[in-house]
Amino acid sequence: MTRDTMSLVLFYSPFGRLNYSWRRPSSRAEDVMTLDYIAGVAREVEAARFDAIFLADKLRRDGTDLIQIEPLTTLGALSAVTEHIGLVATVSTTFSEPYNVARMLTQIDFLSRGRAAVNIVTSTEGEENFSRELPAKAERYRIAQDWLDAAVALWDGWEPDAVLVDREANVWADTSKMHPADHVGPYFRVAGPMTVPRSPQGRPVIVQAGQSPEGVDYGARNAEVIFTAKNEFDEAVGFAADMRARADTFGRDGSALRILPGVVPIVGSTDAEAQEIANEIAELYELEDGIAYLSLLLLDVPLDDLDPDAPIPVERLLTLEEAESSKNLHASRYPNIHRIIVEERPTLREMVRTRAKATGHQFLIGSASTIADEMEHWFRNAACDGFTIIPPYMPEGVTRICRELVPELQRRGIFRTEYPGTTLRDTLGIA
Ligand SMILES: Cc1cc2nc3c(=O)[nH]c(=O)nc-3n(C[C@H](O)[C@H](O)[C@H](O)COP(=O)(O)O)c2cc1C
Repeated sequence: MTRDTMSLVLFYSPFGRLNYSWRRPSSRAEDVMTLDYIAGVAREVEAARFDAIFLADKLRRDGTDLIQIEPLTTLGALSAVTEHIGLVATVSTTFSEPYNVARMLTQIDFLSRGRAAVNIVTSTEGEENFSRELPAKAERYRIAQDWLDAAVALWDGWEPDAVLVDREANVWADTSKMHPADHVGPYFRVAGPMTVPRSPQGRPVIVQAGQSPEGVDYGARNAEVIFTAKNEFDEAVGFAADMRARADTFGRDGSALRILPGVVPIVGSTDAEAQEIANEIAELYELEDGIAYLSLLLLDVPLDDLDPDAPIPVERLLTLEEAESSKNLHASRYPNIHRIIVEERPTLREMVRTRAKATGHQFLIGSASTIADEMEHWFRNAACDGFTIIPPYMPEGVTRICRELVPELQRRGIFRTEYPGTTLRDTLGIA
């Protein structure tokens, strides 16, 4: 199913992708925990007709992290102060129970009048904060399947017309239209039904971003929206085709998937101004922070003893085989960064300055028209159905995207100018 217009989802993080940009005087870094700040961003992307705002999450604070806002509670508040924008919460199936999370998502779908979505992650960190071990990846995805099967049984438990509110007959809801989940899986036993009725969308939109073979299969089997990190056009085309074919093999319609690679647009009024902004932000990046982050991307290989101006020694790196068996979050993106270091032999300083933050997601630096050219090329040539837009810095990074880039996409007829309906499913054009 090809569409005329693309989907855009804001990948919200309080400080933007280049989180060291919080030191800019206008970053509003002191306001990031306030509803006023978050709602301001949500309303801005809503005015620009974005499909959704997506709240990422992690369950542990790592060295280069500043904060992670809590997605479910935040989306409850955003429900009340927005009208159309979809609300995507990240949820870990490894460190939560389907009953209470399915119920929270149903509540958000009610509060938002049909705009809830869930980005399912299996977590690669956080076991020290929960009273259980982190299982190996294949098992995490088996848990995720069982978790979602239980959640779906709960969401389907109340029939759409179960609520009667018949005062005469003293029947608020028809209990014959409430069905137990009776879910007995390898990991979860959930009786149901839920204590809340069926929500406007029936169930939240399911989003997923797995990159490993297990993760990709999970997405193909269950997800309606796929987030991914692809730098290269050809790779994105191959990924999209593979994803759709896999969904077909699960008896689904692969063409209905919304596949949205991440991009980090640095928008300027000219290409030169955009480059200036990029350079200015890069100046705020301290070498030692960059090295710490790079070390994380290289699966915890120590780098602080190296000469920053000498090429990174290849012997220091994990082999691709070693990386594959790593539990680290960055393992699935490792081949890309490994290839850059082996083939291009950058120094530590070069890698930190130019490449580290870009790893995984494509940076597009230029005027609205330059960036729109690239996005249009991807969209019109089967690389994607739209993009996860990752602002480089906040909050003006979002403002420039909304006021300069989005109008350019609209002028080209590849992005909507009005919302087509009321629910997130209406906006995404999915059943
Ligand atoms: C755009 C995008 C957003 C993601 N957001 C999160 C997130 O918020 N929390 C998280 O734990 N993982 C997140 N991930 C990681 C994926 O869920 C997944 O764990 C990762 O891509 C590795 O895939 P694998 O688990 O199949 O190896 C994100 C990935 C992408 C591409």
